[in-house]
Amino acid sequence: MYVTGLQFKNFRNLNDGCIIPGKNINVIYGNNAQGKTNILESLWLFCGGHSFRGSKENDFIKFGENFSRLKVIFFSQDREQEAEILYNSGKKEVSINGVKKHSSTALIGKYTAVIFSPEDLTLVKRGPSSRRRFIDSAICREKIQNAVILSKYNQTLNQRNALLKDIYKHPELKTMLEIWDENLCSLGSKIIFQRLVYIDKIIEYAKNYHAGISDYKENLEIKYISTCSAKKGDSVEEIYDKFKKTLKKSVDDDCRAGFTNIGPQRDDFDIIINNKKAKIFASQGQQRSAVLSLKLAEAKVLSEMTGENPVILLDDVLSELDKKRQSFLLNKIADYQVFITCCDFEEAGLLEEGKKFFIEEGRIN
Ligand SMILES: Nc1ncnc2c1ncn2[C@@H]1O[C@H](COP(=O)(O)OP(=O)(O)O)[C@@H](O)[C@H]1O
Ligand SMILES: [Mg+2]
Repeated sequence: MYVTGLQFKNFRNLNDGCIIPGKNINVIYGNNAQGKTNILESLWLFCGGHSFRGSKENDFIKFGENFSRLKVIFFSQDREQEAEILYNSGKKEVSINGVKKHSSTALIGKYTAVIFSPEDLTLVKRGPSSRRRFIDSAICREKIQNAVILSKYNQTLNQRNALLKDIYKHPELKTMLEIWDENLCSLGSKIIFQRLVYIDKIIEYAKNYHAGISDYKENLEIKYISTCSAKKGDSVEEIYDKFKKTLKKSVDDDCRAGFTNIGPQRDDFDIIINNKKAKIFASQGQQRSAVLSLKLAEAKVLSEMTGENPVILLDDVLSELDKKRQSFLLNKIADYQVFITCCDFEEAGLLEEGKKFFIEEGRIN
């Protein structure tokens, strides 16, 4: 898929208007705090609804205004389509090709994007929550059903955790945990299953990319670390049984802690280079190569799953990579529509064939 038009109304600091991107590379350049990332964010919001910056929906509305509207026109599934998102004092309205939808997840599978920003470069060594976010965000963009399951799981988990906190004061409530356990295990086992399947798919591509960047000297692997010992090859039912058994064993710990210790919300994955944990042993260059490989693999898996190439959003990431990794990346994404932000014209000039947009105080030229 590719974007043929993007329209803003009261979105962040961007002037009302539209941009008509090129089919290949689009370079958005300008000084700091002019609105470059805001443009990428607007493109990202159509693939599932949440900001990659962790912003709240009201944050999107231009200061002093009370609504914000984004419209994207894109070519996907052999035809031109359009989608609109309206943020209006805490409420969100989404429409696709003129038809109202209850959520922007309705665009999953039609409109896909991959975002790559400097924070991603530290994915290997950061805490487990950023790796869980990476994998969950990817499985949700593949299938609308995964997004629904994840959201229900989180609701159930919050309810169970609230009860665990009450049990601290009222131990007699302990028997009520069972009400949530069934749902927790049935939804949670599906998430773990999808994650394992996803890792299995992504690693095949990521391995190849990583080998390519390292001149075939390094072997990349990923090992899923499950709090209920689920492993590659397990069926959903097997994971369900393991989850239920481990959850039962952990009930006293959970009551003491006031939260649930078992489940996808506590799982992680190790990135391994040449049989060593990258988190501990890899150099900064190796860690960056691993993330670059994972991001490229994420794009590849998405296009395989949905049958549409995702739009690639590179937020200030080129200047963070050395020449070799830069050209590796640009070469591998040559078939995708790409939006690249960068600060100086020199860097923008390097991307010769790209369509250029200069941005200053929200004005796009
Ligand atoms: N809701 C909003 N209304 C108006 N301006 C906003 C809003 N949210 C963020 N901004 C402004 O947008 C600018 C940051 O834009 P950003 O796209 O992050 O810049 P950069 O060009 O560095 O990527 C800041 O000046 C910030 O104050
Ligand atoms: Mg920025």
